[in-house]
Amino acid sequence: MNDKRIDGKAVAAELRKEIAAKVEARRAAGLPAPGLAVVLVGEDPASKVYVGSKVKACEEVGFLSQNFRLEASTSQEELLALIDKLNADPQIHGILVQLPLPKQIDVQAVIERIDPKKDVDGFHPYNLGRLAGKAPTLRPCTPYGCMRLLKAYGIDPMGKKAVVVGASNIVGRPVALELLMERATVTICHSKTRDLPGELAQADIVIAAVGIPQFIKGEWLKPGAVVIDVGINRLENGKLVGDVDFDSAYEKASAITPVPGGVGPMTIACLLQNTLEACEAIEG
Ligand code: GUN
Repeated sequence: MNDKRIDGKAVAAELRKEIAAKVEARRAAGLPAPGLAVVLVGEDPASKVYVGSKVKACEEVGFLSQNFRLEASTSQEELLALIDKLNADPQIHGILVQLPLPKQIDVQAVIERIDPKKDVDGFHPYNLGRLAGKAPTLRPCTPYGCMRLLKAYGIDPMGKKAVVVGASNIVGRPVALELLMERATVTICHSKTRDLPGELAQADIVIAAVGIPQFIKGEWLKPGAVVIDVGINRLENGKLVGDVDFDSAYEKASAITPVPGGVGPMTIACLLQNTLEACEAIEG
C-alpha cells in the first residue's frame, strides 16, 4: 500500500460532512440555511453536468438551492436583471453563473454585477483583489480546492518551486496567487511559453490547467514532483482524462491527483464552503 494517488473524493466528502454538520447546527439554532442560486444559460452539455452536480451537492448538505435555466438566446439585459433580483433576495447567499456564457453576453459585466458578498465563485474583481492582497474573502473554488488538497496531504508549498500550466481567470491566475500566498516560488506557463518541459523539470509542484487531454508527459516532470491535475477532458471513446498523462506521470511523481476523483469533487465542496461562509458573513 504505497499509493501515490491524492484522493480528492475522500477529502471532499470529509469537508461536505463538516459543512452538513454546520448547516444542521444553524437550523437547530433557528437560523436560515445557506441558499445558493445556480444559473445556467444555454445547452452546453458539460456545463449541464457540472450544474447538476452542484445543485445535488447543495441539497445533500441541507442548503436551499434555486436552479435557473435560461435559453441560449437570453440577452445580457435579461441575465443582469436576474442577477439584480438574486442580489436583493434575502434567502440567497450565493450566486453562481456557470461559464462559459453565449457570445452575446459580456462575461465581465455579468461577474461584476454579482454582489461581491454573494460571489461564491470568487471571480468578482473585489474578491480577486482581496486574494492578490493576501487577505482573501470568497476564493475561486477550483484553486481553493487544490490548496485544500495539498494541505490535507501535508504538502507545504513554502519555499517550493510551483509551476502552473495555464493562465485562465478561473484557475491558472488565482491558483498562482494562492501558491504565492503560501510562499511558493511561482511560475505561470501558457501557450506562448517557450520551453515548457524546461520549466516543468524544475517544478516541485505542478498545477495542470490547460484543457488539453493528457498534454503533460511524465518525462517532463522532476522526480518526486507533486502533480495536481485540474483538467477534465472526455476522449472520443468516452473516457474522462486530465491534462496530465497519468500513467507516465505516476511513475515520476511522489503524489498525483487522478481524473476523475481528484480536483473535481474539491471544486464542488469548496463551492459549498464558500456559500456557507457567504451566508455566515451576510447573516452576521
Ligand atoms: N466553468 C468552469 N469552471 C467553472 C467554475 O468554477 N465556475 C463557474 N461559474 N463556471 C465554471
